[in-house]
Amino acid sequence: MVEIAPSILSADFTRLREDIEAVERGGATIVHVDVMDGHFVPNITIGLPVVRSLARATQLPLDTHLMISEPGRYAEQFVEAGARMVSVHIEADPHIHRTLSGIKKGGAQAGIVINPATSLSALDEALQFADYVLVMSVNPGFGGQQFIPTSIEKVRRLRRMIDERGLNVRIEIDGGIDRSNIKQVASAGAEIMVAGTAVFGEGDPARAVRELLSASAQLV
Ligand code: DX5
Ligand code: ZN
Repeated sequence: MVEIAPSILSADFTRLREDIEAVERGGATIVHVDVMDGHFVPNITIGLPVVRSLARATQLPLDTHLMISEPGRYAEQFVEAGARMVSVHIEADPHIHRTLSGIKKGGAQAGIVINPATSLSALDEALQFADYVLVMSVNPGFGGQQFIPTSIEKVRRLRRMIDERGLNVRIEIDGGIDRSNIKQVASAGAEIMVAGTAVFGEGDPARAVRELLSASAQLV
């Protein structure tokens, strides 16, 4: 089943509650929160205090995407702040087994994120410890970038890798997702679709989510 996870990075930060209510009306079932530290990626966004407030403002699960150096130092704090999904870049964490275990121990789902130029072979050993893998289809750091088309084949290969091992790992995709490519990434095996610009960029976020859901279900 396809789920839409709007990225609040492209929302209006002065009215986050209203924007989240709107995407929920449209059928979004997850809220994607991009945490950037200005070190792992060249941009600074939001952190723990905002996640704490959002957890009180919505019932939807918060999916925190940590684009930070040394994520092992902070991951469990995001769980305590109310995140129900926490993902960590494999490029940033030499001790990702420990970090993922800590996230799960806190009762949240643990995700591994891979950058566009990181090979799936980097997941070989770690895959079994994750609840989901987030495939980046742009280089992390900014909303509004162009989808990298080779991501579709990467999702397909990852889907095969997960299925061949009989694992119960979901695939999330993030970056440049819109009505034109959502069907293809869904067919390749992604189930959680992050979308920032395509949801908040056009004035009616509820309708944008509905349109993404219907585009993902269209027969090709
Ligand atoms: C990029 C972020 C994304 C971004 C997606 O670093 O991880 O979640 O907000 O935005 P769009 O959908 O505009 O590419
Ligand atoms: Zn993200």
